[in-house]
Amino acid sequence: MADPIQTGVTPTCPACEAPLTSRADALHCPACSETVPVVDGIPRFPVAVEQSAGPPVFDALASIYETPLWFPVVYRVLGGPRAPIDDRSTIVEALDVAGGDVLDVACGTGRVTRVLAADAAAVWGIDLSLEMLRRARRDAMRDGHDNVVVARMNAEDLCFEDEAFEGVACGWALHLFADIPTTVAEIQRVLAPGGRFAGTTLSAESPLALPAAQYGLAQTIGAHVFDHEELRDLLLETGFRTVQLERYGAALFFSARK
Ligand SMILES: C[S@@+](CC[C@H](N)C(=O)[O-])C[C@H]1O[C@@H](n2cnc3c(N)ncnc32)[C@H](O)[C@@H]1O
Ligand SMILES: [Zn+2]
Repeated sequence: MADPIQTGVTPTCPACEAPLTSRADALHCPACSETVPVVDGIPRFPVAVEQSAGPPVFDALASIYETPLWFPVVYRVLGGPRAPIDDRSTIVEALDVAGGDVLDVACGTGRVTRVLAADAAAVWGIDLSLEMLRRARRDAMRDGHDNVVVARMNAEDLCFEDEAFEGVACGWALHLFADIPTTVAEIQRVLAPGGRFAGTTLSAESPLALPAAQYGLAQTIGAHVFDHEELRDLLLETGFRTVQLERYGAALFFSARK
């Protein structure tokens, strides 16, 4: 596991946006004295009060998320028989950031983070759920990835300098953010010129077109289901120059270049 300050990507102060430095058990802002505690190796950037209890569904899912009881089944149900065998390789190939620094937004248990870590210089995985993050850290260490940092951080308020990353991944989470345009603008801000943003989300041009399905998703996990043109327009309006979309069932793979 990497030291947050030694990765080549410097996190910034949540209060004044100055670069943070490392102190025992905390990241420290020399400009305004704000501290970000590091608990069990996981920096905890401030999140809103209603988020600090954690998204209960993801905390509860953490222990089974990558087992055959959850992700592989949900992925195949969403994507159908034509979807890529492994969604991660499609995301990682679209990013094409060998040797670069990568941010994995809403990294969960680090499923995508670990694949990115094999080729990237450094990978930061951020998520709200501490249970997900504990697994992400444990499994990155198990696999010997000493270029990974996981941190609790809200995707809507990324504490990194502008243009800090060559690539940003976001697997199965764009539909979950309370303010999707703000989150996409944050992702665009932290991407270097020419950098790529790639991931997966939910397509409305699928069985999820059923109003009952969309209502159920909105009520249970607050998920939005994307119309393709809506997602393309959002990415272009946010400043991405090119956008590619590929749909398999309800699984919408996207990649965009800044
Ligand atoms: C379905 S999981 C996806 C995990 C991983 N990216 C993958 O592909 O397996 C969605 C994740 O989004 C996280 N999440 C939801 N809202 C978030 C936010 N505003 N900021 C950061 N993470 C968030 C949840 O805690 C959860 O771990
Ligand atoms: Zn500060």
